[in-house]
Amino acid sequence: MKIVSVAIQKGGAGKTTTTINLAAALRDSGKKCLLVDLDPQASLSHSLGISDELEPNIYHLLKRESAGDPAPPEDAIVERYGMNVLSSSLELAGAELELVSVYGREQILSQILDRLDKKYDYVLLDCPPSIGMLTVNALVASHYLLMPVQAEYLSLKGAKSFLRHLQLVKRLNAGLEVLGFVFTRFDARKTMTGEVEACLKDDFGDEMVFEARIRNNIALAKAQQAGMDIYSFQKSSNGAADYYEVGQEFLRRVSEK
Ligand SMILES: Nc1ncnc2c1ncn2[C@@H]1O[C@H](COP(=O)(O)OP(=O)(O)OP(=O)(O)O)[C@@H](O)[C@H]1O
Ligand SMILES: [Mg+2]
Repeated sequence: MKIVSVAIQKGGAGKTTTTINLAAALRDSGKKCLLVDLDPQASLSHSLGISDELEPNIYHLLKRESAGDPAPPEDAIVERYGMNVLSSSLELAGAELELVSVYGREQILSQILDRLDKKYDYVLLDCPPSIGMLTVNALVASHYLLMPVQAEYLSLKGAKSFLRHLQLVKRLNAGLEVLGFVFTRFDARKTMTGEVEACLKDDFGDEMVFEARIRNNIALAKAQQAGMDIYSFQKSSNGAADYYEVGQEFLRRVSEK
């Protein structure tokens, strides 16, 4: 079972869209996936048609685990389109503060995932757009980090600052491997796109940028509104084709690590 954080310190970068549709692409390649919504905005839960009022959810698991009274994670897992999901709710915002005073606070999520009975090929963690206790817990629990980015200058700033923080997290999880950046909402016609890509490659190395990229595709946004993954919503869309390619490159990169 490999655990993957989908994270970057930038709002609207495509983290949630990537978590859902990469998992769906992996599902179609025969992999069993668990998605964990670690964002109090609960966008991933909403995007798969799951209410943020569902209980228990990841918040309750974190709270019980922190209190030394762990609950079986299976109790909180729901199934959507052949994928398993641990949903979130606004209460999770409280966990950022509540975890601060807990002994071993950075390892709570890791302990929960260790308790999973059911074996998954991949667990994908959809992180909030900040480096707080939830993202740190995700990074400490993970084997791999995948960073969605949009081709804009603010993304470059976010990427640099995020990777600086990552060096600190590596003290707690030396084995964390960076899989790379995946461009989302990619539009090759824009000059800025090429410039941002060149900057990312200059700063972090060519191999840090996925060759597969996600084009701007309205079907991806519509699928989220409909509470579906892109393959269940519109298999013939560019979004479906692009996430298939990202899925294949993801599997290749993981096998090479
Ligand atoms: N390739 C794409 N083409 C068109 N729209 C997209 C694409 N990727 C994402 N979107 C839309 O952009 C918005 C932001 O995407 P998403 O929610 O995945 O970002 P995020 O990084 O998870 O945001 P947050 O930081 O708020 O968690 C959503 O409305 C989503 O539907
Ligand atoms: Mg999100």
